[in-house]
Parts: sequence; structure tokens; C-alpha cells
Amino acid sequence: MDKLLNKIIAGDCIEILNGIKEPFADLIFADPPFNIGYKYDKYHDKQKKEYYIDWTKKWMTACNNILKPAGSFYIAIGDDYAASVKTIAEDELKLFCRNWIVWHYTFGQQMKNKFARSHTHIFYFVKDKKQFTFNDNVLRVISDRQKIYNDKRANPEGKMPDDVWNEYPRLCGTFEERTGWHPCQMPESILARIIRASTHEGDWVLDPFNGSGTTTVVAHKLLRNYTGIDISKKYVTEAIKRIKNSSLAVEGEGKLEWTEGLNNELKWFYHENKITTEELMDSEELLGIFTYKFNERMKKVFTPEDITKRLVYLRKSGKLGPLGYSRKQNNEKETSLWESGMTQK
Ligand SMILES: C[S@@+](CC[C@H](N)C(=O)[O-])C[C@H]1O[C@@H](n2cnc3c(N)ncnc32)[C@H](O)[C@@H]1O
Repeated sequence: MDKLLNKIIAGDCIEILNGIKEPFADLIFADPPFNIGYKYDKYHDKQKKEYYIDWTKKWMTACNNILKPAGSFYIAIGDDYAASVKTIAEDELKLFCRNWIVWHYTFGQQMKNKFARSHTHIFYFVKDKKQFTFNDNVLRVISDRQKIYNDKRANPEGKMPDDVWNEYPRLCGTFEERTGWHPCQMPESILARIIRASTHEGDWVLDPFNGSGTTTVVAHKLLRNYTGIDISKKYVTEAIKRIKNSSLAVEGEGKLEWTEGLNNELKWFYHENKITTEELMDSEELLGIFTYKFNERMKKVFTPEDITKRLVYLRKSGKLGPLGYSRKQNNEKETSLWESGMTQK
């Protein structure tokens, strides 16, 4: 098994996984080619429907065989084959579907004479419907009862995020996170949510279609073990570099240093909470909940002041925007309003 541990491997995932006899993965995230004609280095993404479904069965079976009994299996898929994936998983592999997540983004493919496609399905399956890892405490966000209704019945721990994920934009070419050498890179924020939800530190995450390496790089940053497989040697070489150049998001437990990883984590957490900086500034209670939940997720002890200062900094430097890239700050009015809010506190 050592040949797989913390490795990115070039090869066919079906062949490689069929050669492994013992289940090792606590979490599998699979984002296969969707059969929609994307241009990959070594894979032809336009197969006959029957062939593609048969191939889907083969790789799903190979993955399922090496998934541990209490493991989780997430599959990202487009509209055309979502039904086939669900049927194979439930009817043939006897997996349980815990969530049918829809990742909604607004930067989809443009259309001339029909509505623009702006979502991807993410299935969340488990092998055992009673035994699985799900860390709700580090995923919860401020609820409407807390944010809007000021309702005393609100759970102080917040609420679970919805199964429609619209807080994570699709990576466009101008984003800093974009590697530039892979045609369809998933955002790290999505993988961070999935890995946090379904694994503990030290667990083993597998991505059989590693691509640009998003899953494995996030697993590494979050102190999980990983294995990535891709048919393209070029992608594998680049993904290994991506891991080598990454810094750990949770490095130095308790340490209050705003690393690049922590800045990203704060940005993601901010968008997951769907709250404005003004709302946070205006309510000590909401800022307190936000700080408490962020600290719990990151194992830190930031004060509400630390959090506001950092949000101000990120906002002023254009790094907090939902667009997720460093844009030049050109909204003076917005900045000064925000700053005057700071001085009132
Ligand atoms: C949709 S992309 C994955 C993107 C990835 N989630 C990311 O964030 O970068 C699918 C990948 O599967 C790879 N692939 C295609 N057939 C494969 C096979 N049989 N075994 C392993 N990888 C394969 C392609 O080279 C491509 O990089």
C-alpha cells in the first residue's frame, strides 16, 4: 500500500485500483470527464453513450472495492449522466445516497438559444448508512434565525449549509488559484468542505481523476493522506509540483499568523455564511458567532477584533470579493464606509 500513500500516480485508475486487494480509502472524490468534448491531454472526451456508461460502471466498481466500510464516495457529474451514476451506485454497488448536491455557479457556458447551464451535480454516497464520518461542527454557518429573525430558539452552533452550493464560484482564467494547464479545475473551497465533512486528520483521501490535483492538494493542506491518479503524465508532474509549492492551511495549531492558506479559509468561511461585512460589523453577536465558528474550524483563538481587521484588510486589497481573485480596489466609497465602521467600534 506504500506505493499509493501520499502519491500522485500516472496511469489508468481502473487498472491501478483493480490491482489493490485491500480497502484503504476513507473518502473518494471522483470528478470524471463528463463526455462533453473537453480537450484533455490524454483522454478523448467524446465517447459513445453505451461505452461511457459501461466505463463509468467499471471505474465506480474499482473505487467501491477499495473504499473502507465506513467510507464516503463523492462523485461530480453533469446532467447527461447523473441518472446513470445514481442508478449504478444504488442498484449495483448498493451505496446509500446521503445528499444530491447541486453546485450552482454563474460563470457557466454561454448559450445562444437555450438557458445557460450553470450547475454540476455532486453525489454524496456512503457504504454504510449508519457508520460514516460527518463532522457537522466545522461546517455549520450562521442561520437565518440568528442572522435575520433574532430568534431565541436558534441553535447557537448555527445551521448546516444547504445542498445547493452557490457560494463557490467556478474558477475562471483570471483567478489566482487557476493553474492554467488543466481545462477544468475544481475550486479548493469545494474540496475543503467535502474533506472536512467526511474525514479526520490522518484519514486517506483518493481522487481517481486527479487532474490539476485540487483534491490531493487540499487533502495535503488539511493534514490528510492522499492518493491521486491521472492518465496524463503531464498532469501528474504538474500536480506533484502543485503539492510541493503548497503550504499547510492548518500549520501551527493555535498560531495567529495570517498565512495565505488562512486568508483563503477566512474568505471561504465569509462567503459560506452569506453575510455582509456590514452585518458583521453592526452586530457584536453575529461577529461573536462568526469568530467562534471560524476558530472552531481552524483550531485558532482569534478575537472578534482580529477577524474584523483581517476582513477589512482582505476587502481593501480586493481579496474578499466573490470573484476570488485579486482585483484592483477601485471603490473608494465602499472602502471608506467600511473604515469608518471600524473606527466606531
Ligand atoms: C474532470 S478532470 C478532473 C479535474 C480535477 N477534479 C481538478 O480539480 O483538477 C478529469 C481527469 O480525468 C483524467 N482521466 C481520464 N481517464 C482517466 C483514467 N482512466 N484514469 C485516470 N485518469 C483519467 C483526465 O486526464 C482528467 O485530468
